[in-house]
Parts: sequence; structure tokens; C-alpha cells
Amino acid sequence: MRVTIIGAGYVGLVSGACFADFGHEVVCVDKDAAKIRSLEAGNIPIFEPGLAALVAENVKARRLSFSGDFAASTPNADAVFIAVGTPSRRGDGFADLSYVYSAAEEIASVIEGYTVIVNKSTVPVGTGAEVEQIIRKARPDAGFSVVSNPEFLREGAAIADFKHPDRIIVGVEDDRAIQVMRELYRPLYLNETPMVFTNRATSELIKYAANAFLATKITFINEIADLCEQVGANVQEVAGGMGLDGRIGAKFLHAGPGYGGSCFPKDTIALVRTAQSNNAPARIVEAVVEINDERKKKMAGRVIAACGGSLANKTIAVLGLTFKPNTDDMRDSPSLDIVPALQAAGAAIRAYDPVGMKEAAALLDDVEYAEGPYQALKGADGVVIITEWDEFRALDIDRVKALMKAPVMVDLRNIYRPREMAERGIDYHSIGRPREIFE
Ligand code: UGA
Repeated sequence: MRVTIIGAGYVGLVSGACFADFGHEVVCVDKDAAKIRSLEAGNIPIFEPGLAALVAENVKARRLSFSGDFAASTPNADAVFIAVGTPSRRGDGFADLSYVYSAAEEIASVIEGYTVIVNKSTVPVGTGAEVEQIIRKARPDAGFSVVSNPEFLREGAAIADFKHPDRIIVGVEDDRAIQVMRELYRPLYLNETPMVFTNRATSELIKYAANAFLATKITFINEIADLCEQVGANVQEVAGGMGLDGRIGAKFLHAGPGYGGSCFPKDTIALVRTAQSNNAPARIVEAVVEINDERKKKMAGRVIAACGGSLANKTIAVLGLTFKPNTDDMRDSPSLDIVPALQAAGAAIRAYDPVGMKEAAALLDDVEYAEGPYQALKGADGVVIITEWDEFRALDIDRVKALMKAPVMVDLRNIYRPREMAERGIDYHSIGRPREIFE
């Protein structure tokens, strides 16, 4: 099938490369001419494991191409995907749909023959209907269907998530579009991946409900972690014990510094706003948003307390800056709250992140960047682990101790064991776990 994807950002690129790999003929279109030139030269603007190789293979096989010329790429497409950003609108937190609507207008100006317009951007309930109206108004003659097909890709694992999804959700209002969607996802459909066909509004809401539920799960376990600290319980074991109940499940029960990223923070707020404006307040999600914001702000206090109550004239090593490992994405990362708060308390910051330092440099002031974890630790009065990159999981603890001025470690991702660290002479602090426990 011929597929055009509008938006060569994270979702557009991953989806485009994967659809091409399924055998479709895909053009990814973007208004950003520099991005298109760079993609044509083989450079991938984002860090996503496996993406560069997948793009290269499919470009070579002539199934995947890039273009800045939307009109030239779209007329004969069987499906046009809208994969543009829907950031939080400044001031009110509603999703900003201006990119989606301008994509709809562009589509209206060029489609020929029957075309399925698929919305992959995360959009509030009713957006699909609005897109349909925009196109219908501009082109009363055109044959088209507007479908909702939300994405459930996790940064850092996006290709595996696309190729082996738990489910594919399709919000569709007519049978002809169902056939096109089945054909597009044929390899997965044949693999018996559950494909849920529902109406557009339901599909749009599934995406927000899923993200808000996961954000709630994380926030729930974070509060249980706080309680564990007060009563001498171990949150990892609480989560393990809860997770064995098949109705609860073990995933997304890792306590930490609070969720960040490009999705949960903006999607939870957008759901809250949609719910409020529809007279059906989502009070649990409102609480989740508030608790998570507060949590990120409070995390620096743990470092200050671990360092004896003051950071004046102290150097703190920061390991990990991105909102999660295997991405260079800094959006709403807990580090954006933690680092400035440590600086405000008087600390000099020496940080290391395997791929996020370039992005971080644009967002954080007065940070010294190290070439590796050990360089960051040299002479430090304390270290805080903010992101659980694999390379931080097996540090040489004797070397860590020898390098640091004081061996104080605040592990916000629970990647080490309290008892082992205590035995090795580290003044170790983690999330929701007693400092010395039977392991
Ligand atoms: C999330 C969803 O997991 C995807 O299914 C969805 O498609 C995507 O948003 C989206 O809407 O596009 P992502 O933001 O890439 O994916 O990353 P997650 O792995 O979900 O992590 C989000 C945040 O939650 C991170 O800050 C992570 O550290 C935190 N987290 C996650 C925890 O603190 N504990 C956990 O147990 C899991």
C-alpha cells in the first residue's frame, strides 16, 4: 500500500520505518526542510535504539523516502497518517491541535481517490470528527474516511512496541476503512495481535485512559514508597507481592522520582481538562498530576538531607538526566526540577548522561558535564542517580568510594541493594526501602 506520514518526528519516523518494513511504500513528510535534508543524508534526529538501521534498510530497499513536498507525496496514497505534535497549550493545558488541523487542511487540498486519513497523534475526544468536518467542508467531492489509531510506543523500546504490540486500537466509522487498516497492519493481524475496532471517540479516549492509568499506577506506588519509608517496609517487595495478583500486574510499579517524558505529563493534564469541560471531572487523575509535580520538586530535599542538611560549597555528582534510559529526551524529566533545586541549595553540579547531555545543556544552566560516571564522581560530596541507565547498574563500588570525597549515594531508581551498599561502606539512600534489610 502507499502510505504518507505527515510529521517526521518520533511517532512519524518510527511508524514510517516500521510500515515500510512491513512492505508498504512509505513517504514521511515534514515542513522542516533541514530535518528532511538530514534524514535524506541518513542522519536520524532522535536517539532510538534500532531506528537508524531500520530506516537505512528500508531507504535502501526503496520502500521508505522523505519529502518536504506534501502535495507531491500524497495524491495517490491509500492512507495518510497524521503524526504531528499535540503539545500542552500554554495557559490552560488543553492539547494544542493547531498542527493536526493544519495537516487536515493540507490533506483536503491534495487527496485524490478514496483515502483513509489516520490520526496517530494523541488527540482529545472529538478531534477525528473535527478533522472529518474540515476536510468535508473543503472538499465535498472527496472520498475519504477519518480513522483514529493511537500509538502505544515507549521511547527506547518503540520499534519492538510497534512490531509486537499488546493490541492495535482502531476507531473507525465505516467498513471500507476497516479493510484498509487490516491491510496496513497485515503482518500483525496474521500474527494474531488483538485488533480492536471501535468508534472514533472510544479509540481517542482509550489512549488517554491508558496513559492516565499508567501514570496513576506509578503515582500510587510512589505514595506507597513514602509510607514504606515511615514504617520500615520495602516498596519493591510490596510491588512484587501486589504484582503477582494477575488483576494488578507487576509492570509500572517501580517507585522513583516521579514520571516525566513527552506523554504522561501532557496527556494527564489534557484528560483532566477534557473531563472538566465535559462535566465529568477526573478527580483521581487531577490528584495524580498534583502529586507527581510535587514529588519531582521534593526529590532534591532527599539529597540535601543525605548530605547532612546543607549543600553549601559542595559538589554533587548527577548520574542520568533524561526522563528514562535509552532516550535523549529531556522533556519533563525529574532532573529539570532536581538539578536547579540542588544548585539553589548551594551545590555545584557535575553531571553525566550517556546520550542526554546535549539536550540537557540547552535546558540546565551552570552544569559541568563529565565524560563518564567516574569523572562525574571525582571529589564529589554526594551522588544522585536520577535515571537508571544500564551503565550505572554495575559501577565499581570500591572505585566510587575512592573517588568521592564523601561516599553518599542517593539512588532515586533503586538500582542497588541497601544492605550490600551498607556493607561496602556507602552511605546509601534509596526510595521506599529500609537502609538495612534482609535480602
Ligand atoms: C508512555 C507509554 O508507556 C506508552 O505506552 C505511550 O505510547 C507513550 O507514553 C505515548 O503516549 O506516546 P514513554 O513516555 O516513552 O511511554 O515512557 P514510559 O516507559 O511509559 O515512562 C514514562 C515515565 O514513567 C518515565 O519517567 C519513567 O521513568 C516513569 N516510570 C515508568 C516510573 O517511574 N515507574 C514505572 O514503573 C514505569
